[in-house]
Amino acid sequence: MIVILLGPPGAGKGTQAKRLEERYGLVQLSTGDMLRAERKSGSALGRKVQAIMDSGRLVSDDIIIDLIADRIDRLASKGVILDGFPRTVPQAEALDRMLRDKGLKLDRVIEMTVDEAALIDRIAGRFSCARCGASYHDRNHQPKVQGVCDVCGSKEFVRRGDDNPEAVKTRLEAYRRQTAPILPYYRNKGILRQVDGMAEIDSVGRQIEAILNGQ
Ligand code: AP5
Repeated sequence: MIVILLGPPGAGKGTQAKRLEERYGLVQLSTGDMLRAERKSGSALGRKVQAIMDSGRLVSDDIIIDLIADRIDRLASKGVILDGFPRTVPQAEALDRMLRDKGLKLDRVIEMTVDEAALIDRIAGRFSCARCGASYHDRNHQPKVQGVCDVCGSKEFVRRGDDNPEAVKTRLEAYRRQTAPILPYYRNKGILRQVDGMAEIDSVGRQIEAILNGQ
């Protein structure tokens, strides 16, 4: 199964992708996580994208397509959840070509609809596990044991450099201007579905599962 989770920053793509990994044994491919890993490693690519990411703008299509092509090539046949990719029409077209070359096709694109005011609150409260990346929120989603990651038990947490009001404004604008135009692309293919991303995390998860189970 190949699924795209689509939605603005803070819609809950990463949160739901992690759930789907557990539920369906799919692999989460997050271009945001891959870019953050490049930055952490201090690679030339990581240094190149640092300022762009911190400002909230999108990294160029050629960098992103190069970054993800090898992963798609190795993992698509096992089943993947794409989180944060594609984000522009050229990226969507490149994904189609990559899958076609492997004789695969996209099963579903799930749009997570949300209210912008809520997104700012979600992003401002977000923190994640420094070791495994599991995502939490100051009010909505604390670890079960205070200060201990539910998934891996680590006690170290981090907050993202682009989760500040100025960068969030730019990220929302980039979504409206560059990413939302891919919705009609998938609607025309008949594979776009919507879920209410404002519902509670478990409820959003159930809506997505119902779609993937063909209900
Ligand atoms: P990326 O890492 O993809 O960030 P994003 O799209 O801005 O999305 P987020 O990770 O902020 O949000 P999310 O939807 O995953 O929400 P989450 O589950 O964490 O990209 C970062 C940057 O990298 C980009 O700005 C760009 O520069 C670059 N980049 C990446 N991919 C690119 C590409 N393809 N092309 C070009 N550039 C690219 O949830 C948020 C918070 O809300 C959490 O605290 C969570 O616990 C909470 N929450 C989640 N669901 C709910 C719920 N239902 N109710 C209440 N709280 C909830």
